[in-house]
Amino acid sequence: MANDNTLVKAWLHFLCNDDNLPKSTVAETITNTGISIHTSDPYTANDMGIVFFDDINQQLLSFLREVSLSGRKRVLAIADSGSTLTNGVVWRLLQAGASDVFSWDHSANPEIEIKNRLERWHTVDQLACSSLVRNNLVGQSPVWVSILRQIIEVAKFTDANILIMGETGTGKELIARLIHTLDQRSQKHELVVLDCTTIVSELSGSEFFGHERGAFTGAVSSRDGAFALANDGTLFLDEVGELPLGLQAQLLRVVQEHTYKRVGGNAWQSTNFRLVCATNKNLMQEVKQNNFRHDFYYRIANWTCRLPPLRERSEDIMPLVQHFMKILRTDEDPPELDEPVREYLIKRDYPGNVRDLRQLVTRLTYRHIGTGPITAGDIPEEDRLSPESLQEDWCNKHFEYAIRHALSAGIGLKEIGRAAEETAVRIAVSNEKGNLQRAARKLGVTDRALQLRRASRRQNEIPQEFD
Ligand SMILES: Nc1ncnc2c1ncn2[C@@H]1O[C@H](COP(=O)(O)OP(=O)(O)OP(=O)(O)O)[C@@H](O)[C@H]1O
Ligand SMILES: [Mg+2]
Repeated sequence: MANDNTLVKAWLHFLCNDDNLPKSTVAETITNTGISIHTSDPYTANDMGIVFFDDINQQLLSFLREVSLSGRKRVLAIADSGSTLTNGVVWRLLQAGASDVFSWDHSANPEIEIKNRLERWHTVDQLACSSLVRNNLVGQSPVWVSILRQIIEVAKFTDANILIMGETGTGKELIARLIHTLDQRSQKHELVVLDCTTIVSELSGSEFFGHERGAFTGAVSSRDGAFALANDGTLFLDEVGELPLGLQAQLLRVVQEHTYKRVGGNAWQSTNFRLVCATNKNLMQEVKQNNFRHDFYYRIANWTCRLPPLRERSEDIMPLVQHFMKILRTDEDPPELDEPVREYLIKRDYPGNVRDLRQLVTRLTYRHIGTGPITAGDIPEEDRLSPESLQEDWCNKHFEYAIRHALSAGIGLKEIGRAAEETAVRIAVSNEKGNLQRAARKLGVTDRALQLRRASRRQNEIPQEFD
């Protein structure tokens, strides 16, 4: 059973024959662990699923891509007994959207390994869909869902120190707060935030460790520092990349041993905190350039995550716009947006990422008059696009960025083309909330071509009509 006591359900699908592993035996063995196995169509099921395979071919890769919605839905890929799984194959399956891959005979109790994974994923996904997360951290793009799942898992099931990296405005502070909220410690105390850009070096010792009365001129009474205040809670060191090297050296012991001395004091104090750090610098790069201590880096970064800039998750722009509008107009439904405004919001650059978008939505809402849709005139003059960027074709730098990324990951032309098509279909179908007729119109193909394509995807053939 998962922690929340709900029954974990999963579909089971076989892309292999019955010779080595009879289907009914597999289903029964897994069901006996407490997982509810059903036979729903994997293409339409909302649950997680397990696929058994005996051959690594295009059919398997397409299946994984399609049913996992590029990794958004969890699929566990299990190689049939006797099949060999080479490292290269495992990476390809993960890349196609599998959440994990192993072979049925890789351990004595594969069914328990399946159960453990499905239950963990179920708990994590339930949290990712909870109002606590969805009402605060908006985003459904695959890259965002994937990062959120990792953060939830590490926050809830470990006590690791976490380093959050990401450009300005990508949500680092929101994530730090989420980590603290999800931390499982019983009788957990506060989240203490310390902004490393505001630390004055002469007073830094006292800020971090506290001081005894009379420790220095002006120390008229003793005082607790950040490490004491964060005892049994979380210490969030924001902008940790700004910490001077000397100060990093002073923090090594307390981060590792959780013991320290107050300024002017001799007694060792102990404290029990989880450390979460954030930075918009590439800290590994800073370590290489000797601007950041490598021993301190490894102490603060038991686990690292990089929050994607908004340009890497433009699918999330419209949901974020809706979210910010709801926050601004709590008393009424958010207004609709005219098509040119939607297009503008998606096309625009956001150097300040989500914060930038939030401020823009605020400006649009201030200017908007009445209850009708927001129109192009509501966009403040200084925010409007230049004539050049209006003429910019759709293959702009974001597109180029994605292609560069794919090429550097070793993905070939055929795969890129297929991924572009699949992405277009997925976005169109999802924008039209599953209405295939409207999605087909958006894609400029006939309804039949779209239906055929989706059906034939499953058999790994692309219909002529679509090409
Ligand atoms: N996924 C999100 N969903 C909703 N709001 C978000 C999301 N990400 C960021 N925001 C909003 O964007 C703003 C900036 O977020 P936050 O302060 O967490 O960013 P940051 O990465 O810490 O930025 P900086 O590096 O400038 O300190 C906040 O108003 C926050 O509420
Ligand atoms: Mg911040």
